[in-house]
Amino acid sequence: MSSDFPAYAPSEEHELLRQTVRELAEAKIAPHAAEVDETGEFPQNALDALVAGDLHAVHVPESYGGAGADALATVIVIEEVARVCASSSLIPAVNKLGTVPVLLSGSEELKKKYLAPVARGEAMFSYALSEPEAGSDAASMKTRAVRDGDHWVLNGVKMWITNAGVSEYYTVMAVTEPGAGARGISAFVVEKSDPGVSFGPKERKLGIKGSPTRQVILEDVRIPADRIIGAEGTGFKTALATLDHTRITIAAQALGIAQGALDHAVGYVKERRQFGKSIADFQGVQFMIADMAMKIEAARQLTYHAAIKSERAMNGEKVPDLTFVSSACKCLASDAAMEVTTDAVQLLGGYGYTRDFPVERMMRDAKITQIYEGTNQIQRMVMARQLLK
Ligand code: CAA
Repeated sequence: MSSDFPAYAPSEEHELLRQTVRELAEAKIAPHAAEVDETGEFPQNALDALVAGDLHAVHVPESYGGAGADALATVIVIEEVARVCASSSLIPAVNKLGTVPVLLSGSEELKKKYLAPVARGEAMFSYALSEPEAGSDAASMKTRAVRDGDHWVLNGVKMWITNAGVSEYYTVMAVTEPGAGARGISAFVVEKSDPGVSFGPKERKLGIKGSPTRQVILEDVRIPADRIIGAEGTGFKTALATLDHTRITIAAQALGIAQGALDHAVGYVKERRQFGKSIADFQGVQFMIADMAMKIEAARQLTYHAAIKSERAMNGEKVPDLTFVSSACKCLASDAAMEVTTDAVQLLGGYGYTRDFPVERMMRDAKITQIYEGTNQIQRMVMARQLLK
C-alpha cells in the first residue's frame, strides 16, 4: 500500500473554503439542526443556504457548469456541514454519490443533460443500488431492465435510498442479463417524474432524521435507451468504482460529526464545575479529550490522503490503492466518530443524554456512518481482498 506521492496538503484555498463553509454552516444550518432532528423534516433551509453559497454540489466540473472543486475541497465542505448537522451534509455528499456514475461512465450527452441542473441547484441526484434482499451482497439485486426498441423498461424496488423523493434524478442499477451475475448489471439515469416511479414511506431512523430514506419503486418505468450509463453490463463496476470515490465523503461526514462533538465537549468540560473545580482539571477527563482529538486527527489525515488519490483517479491517473484507502478511511473515520461521540455524551454526563445538548444527536447520527456505503465489515473485507489478491 505504499505511495509515491506525499500525504495530503490542503492549500491556502482549501483552508479559506473551510472558513467560508464553517461561517455559513454556523450561521445558517446549525440553528435548525436540533429542529430538523426533532421533526424529521428535510432541511430546506440548509439546501437554500448551500445553493446560495454554491456549496451544494461543489464537485461538478466547470465544463458542466459546476464549481469544479477537487475531491479534497468536497471533503472539507461535507466535513464542515456535518460538524453542525449530519442530515444537511448529505446534500453535498449524495449529490456527489448520485452523479459520480455519470461522471465516470456516462456519455457526453448524459453529462450535459444531468450535471448542469445539479450544478445550478435545481435538482439533486441520488444513488439506487441496494434492495430489500440485496444489501451487502449488492450483486444479487433483482431489479430488472428489459430493452424494448428505443427504450428500457425497469421494474423493481430499491431500498435505503438517501434523499429519495427530494432528488429529481437517480442512478439506478438493474439486471439486464439475468444469470450473468455482476456482469449482467447495467446503470441508468431515472427521473423522479418518469411515469411508474414512486416512493415508499420514510424510514423511521435512529439518526440523520432530516434526510429522507425511502424505497424507490419502479413499475414499468419506460426510459429512453440513451439513459444507460456506459455500456450494457458495466453497471456494477461503475457502482463499485463510484463507491471508491464516495466512501471518502462518508469518512468526511464522520469526521465532521466527531469534530462537532469534540468541540462541544471541550467547551463543556471547561465550564462545568464539580468538586470545587472545572472538570477539565481532572486528568481522567483530559485523557478522554486527548484520545478523542487524536482519533479524529488520524482519521482526517487518512481521509485527506484518500481524497487526493480520488482526485488523481478522477483525472485519469491509475491509482491502484484507491479502493484500499477509500475503504480504510471510511472505516477508520466512522469507527472514530462512534467512539468520539459516545465519549462526548459521557463527558456531558446526564446532560449529554438529553436533547437539550447536541451530542446525543451526534452520537445517533454517527452510527449510520459505520453502516451505509458498505458496512464496516464489508470495508474490512474489501481491504483484506486488496491486500491478499
Ligand atoms: N471498482 C471497479 N470494479 C470493481 C471494484 C471496484 N472497486 N471492485 C470489484 N470490481 C469488479 C470486479 O473486478 C468484478 O468484475 P469482473 O467479474 O469483471 O472481474 C465485479 O466488480 C464483481 O466484483 P466482486 O466479485 O468482488 O463482487 P462481489 O459480489 O464479491 O461484491 C462487494 C463485492 C465488495 C461485497 C460489494 O458488493 C460491496 O461493496 N458491497 C457493499 C454494498 C454497498 O456498499 N452498498 C452501499 C449502498 S449505497 C449507500 O449506502 C449510499 C447512501 O445511502 C448514502
